[in-house]
Amino acid sequence: MQQIQETAAKFDELSRRAVEPVELIKSSKDLLVVSHVDADGLTSAAIICTALDRCGLAYRPMFFRQLDQTALDEVSDQGTDMVIFTDLGSGMIRQICDLGITAAVADHHKPAPPGDARPAAHINPHLVGADGATQMSGAGAALLLARALAAAPGGNDDLAALAVVGAVGDLQDMAQGQLVGLNRQILQIGSAAGALSFSRDIKLFGRQTRPVYKMLEYCQDPYLPGLSGNEDACIAFLKETGIRLSGERWRRWVDLNLEERAAIVTALLRKGLRSGISHVRLERLIGEVYVLLAETEGTETRDASEYSTLLNATARYGHAEVGLKVCMGDREAGFSEAQRLLAQHRQNLVNGLKLVAERGITPMKSIQYFDAGDAILDTIVGIVAGMSFQMADRSRPILAFARTAEGELKVSARGTQDLVRSGLDLADALSRAAGAVGGVGGGHNVAAGATIPPQVKEEFLAIMDSVVSQQLSRE
Ligand code: C5P
Ligand code: ZN
Repeated sequence: MQQIQETAAKFDELSRRAVEPVELIKSSKDLLVVSHVDADGLTSAAIICTALDRCGLAYRPMFFRQLDQTALDEVSDQGTDMVIFTDLGSGMIRQICDLGITAAVADHHKPAPPGDARPAAHINPHLVGADGATQMSGAGAALLLARALAAAPGGNDDLAALAVVGAVGDLQDMAQGQLVGLNRQILQIGSAAGALSFSRDIKLFGRQTRPVYKMLEYCQDPYLPGLSGNEDACIAFLKETGIRLSGERWRRWVDLNLEERAAIVTALLRKGLRSGISHVRLERLIGEVYVLLAETEGTETRDASEYSTLLNATARYGHAEVGLKVCMGDREAGFSEAQRLLAQHRQNLVNGLKLVAERGITPMKSIQYFDAGDAILDTIVGIVAGMSFQMADRSRPILAFARTAEGELKVSARGTQDLVRSGLDLADALSRAAGAVGGVGGGHNVAAGATIPPQVKEEFLAIMDSVVSQQLSRE
């Protein structure tokens, strides 16, 4: 009870902060919306851009992979009245203010000490003592600003659906199998607005768009012995369970009735237990899933998880504008283009995983890593690193290296929730280790990134191994 009240108080405090820049925004003739190129960044930008549209305000969107000094100088050069930063900015408050930019920042990354700098508004869960990795995403912070901008109370509450897509895109529902903390307030807002529904269901990717046997075949977490990666076995398993596989087309999870779904879950649990998978891992098969009620059933945008993957497939390949169009309602040309990019993205992930399997993962004392060189794009190497846990040791975080177009070394690090509970903080480790070798890094406790000069890789690895060893008390 007390915890619920505390969460509500934090939500109210952030909502108050969101009201502060409203007059300034509404009196701006020329606004810039600056956001991050991933699913959370796109949904954040779309939430703000939609809110500005509804106010009749002119704006331009701009996307960056990270907000470093060069990016910030480019923002400053636009010479707009005001800049709204979403899903980035909290680490650069001092530099933003030093450039004289009038700014509202709605972010959830760990803030850097701002010194005396005071932006027009800073909305970030960390500032009210809430964890930005699990409790609120950039899109959640953006939603608070959009709600403050609404002409009438509740006017922008439908945008909570996009905020949930952002949170799911940043994997905020994975630690507990459901969204928690401040994110639950956002869920309530979205469902009260009729934009969202949430329920417990099978938590496998592709409920809306994949034939059921494919959904099972691609299940990697938990790995289902005898089913994962084996199409014929999945078809046979469903037939034995009494499921009709096709009607006019292959049936998807959303085409099945409740009895059929329950029969599959029961049979999966039984099979899993018989293969010796622990209860804890099998429980991950079930969790909360989020449905966007305004979207057509059987399409990617109906399901928060499939929607966020569709968006990553645009933004991570330099087509943020396509993802933004989709978030702002394009279900014609923009949507088709996004689907085409998604098909390519899938193929790239499969190829990336094959490469990791071939090259292998090198263990150190408390970390493990692989170097993809030029073979995996630096913008998706983090996703591949996360997926690599299916073949890697889950008792240490995984680091992945990829060469950037500029010849620098991109590092992506991913942990597990169990490791975070044991003290792992990859944002802290990467920012310290990268900082020590002349690079920059940051992010979240469970997922973080950095860019470093290529020649210092070994030194960087040694520092990372030692910092993570300390965090996990293995020294
Ligand atoms: O790029 P990747 O997916 O590995 O990034 C993981 C997280 O780390 C993201 O939230 C990203 O914003 C953050 N990051 C960062 N500083 C960097 C690279 C990534 O804060 N230099
Ligand atoms: Zn984010």
